[in-house]
Amino acid sequence: MSDQGVDRSKRQFLTTALTVVGAVGTGYIAVPFLSQMQPSTKAKAAGAPVEIDISKMETGQLIRAAWRGKPVWVLNRTPEVLEILAEQTDKLADPLSLESNQPESSNNEFRSIKPEIFIAVGLCTHLGCSPTFRPEIAPNDLGEDWKGGFFCPCHGSGFDLAGRVFRGVPAPTNLDVPPHRYMSETRIIIGDESGADA
Ligand code: FES
Repeated sequence: MSDQGVDRSKRQFLTTALTVVGAVGTGYIAVPFLSQMQPSTKAKAAGAPVEIDISKMETGQLIRAAWRGKPVWVLNRTPEVLEILAEQTDKLADPLSLESNQPESSNNEFRSIKPEIFIAVGLCTHLGCSPTFRPEIAPNDLGEDWKGGFFCPCHGSGFDLAGRVFRGVPAPTNLDVPPHRYMSETRIIIGDESGADA
């Protein structure tokens, strides 16, 4: 074999070897990359809708759940609370919730599908603290004008029992109402508003 012949076959060998290494290398890199692109089961579960059973809820009771890592509240409001909500609108920054987040199905004076059942994301719209549930009328620490609501201890924002923010506090908007719907009279799904009640 001539020197030229040896060089050519060496080049051919090197080209083939590099192509194989390249393919193996690409395959090796491609597997973890693809697996990183797939959402994990945990991540899927974290974003999944959450079902809440309200069959055992009593009037006036608040239950807590979690959806997408956020606290979600379900409050069974009394008839008295519904009356108060209609009365104190002049103290609210956005009584008609025009600047606030709620699904179409809760775009009404009670911010809910059923007047008595109120559902909200339990995070203050100022800097995200979780307000406390304060249903009492005129407690000492909140004053005579307090007719029940949610109070954020971080910087003092108050919300009524429809999650509507009072005037003159740091929180800029009403509490968010998450997308939700009723699967039956006593089962609510949070995070999914497709269906009859959406
Ligand atoms: S985080 Fe609620 S008032 Fe600031």
